[in-house]
Amino acid sequence: MINVSIVQFTPEFGRPGHNLQQIERLVENLTTDVVVLPELCTTGYSFISKEEAFAAADSPDSYTLDIFRKIASTRQALVIAGYAEKSGDNVYNSALIAMPGGEIKVYRKSHLFYREKECFDKGDSGFFVINHPVKDCKIGVMVCNDWRYPEAARSLALLGADVICCPSNLVSTVWQIGMAARALENKVYLAVANRCGTEVRQLPDGTRQTLLFNGGSVLYDYNGQALAKANTTETKVITLQIDPIATRDKHFNAFNDLLKDRRTDLYIG
Ligand code: ACM
Repeated sequence: MINVSIVQFTPEFGRPGHNLQQIERLVENLTTDVVVLPELCTTGYSFISKEEAFAAADSPDSYTLDIFRKIASTRQALVIAGYAEKSGDNVYNSALIAMPGGEIKVYRKSHLFYREKECFDKGDSGFFVINHPVKDCKIGVMVCNDWRYPEAARSLALLGADVICCPSNLVSTVWQIGMAARALENKVYLAVANRCGTEVRQLPDGTRQTLLFNGGSVLYDYNGQALAKANTTETKVITLQIDPIATRDKHFNAFNDLLKDRRTDLYIG
């Protein structure tokens, strides 16, 4: 059994110091094995150009991200946090995965959403699964809009993920149908850490963009049922105990195995 914690809060755009302080306060008393924070949780979301995103971005070993390494080592936990990553001339919408022993891995968002296409490079890390170094649990990561592409969660399930962690900045509500389906169709737990609050930015053409992030952070079980859910506006940490090993037998009745019954000889694409 492992404890998974999902952190929901309101990052403020362009105030990384303030956002990191909020995060530190929220996690200071947690006893847990996995912590999932929202997408772009250190910088805020609404970049308007690649130059702006690049200027705000960190490399994975930046001291700005020390807090995540510290949580990982003091809690013996895996910490998954969305951040803007710079690498050479590129900037990615990434998730940092901080391991208890100090190792860092990075997942770069594969399916950019809306104006992200003008601000970030397309993720090229591909999908991978991490063995929790302390607990018997395999963890996969995807970021927000990756939910709309079932191939992302399916790839992680095929790699053996027990739990998919999804740092998010979701602005719709349709994801609640889609994410639950990703959990059910892959027989995996799915932890969505969404943010709340509003960001208003002036766009290069002079118009104003207002984005409302709708919270509702949730942990789905492997039947797509919500085990716990935050409301749309609250700052909240949800911690729940789950059994990762229960996801490994992919049968859903005596005859059907979710992954083995796939008809890859018929599928297109
Ligand atoms: C999103 O991918 N931030 C909706």
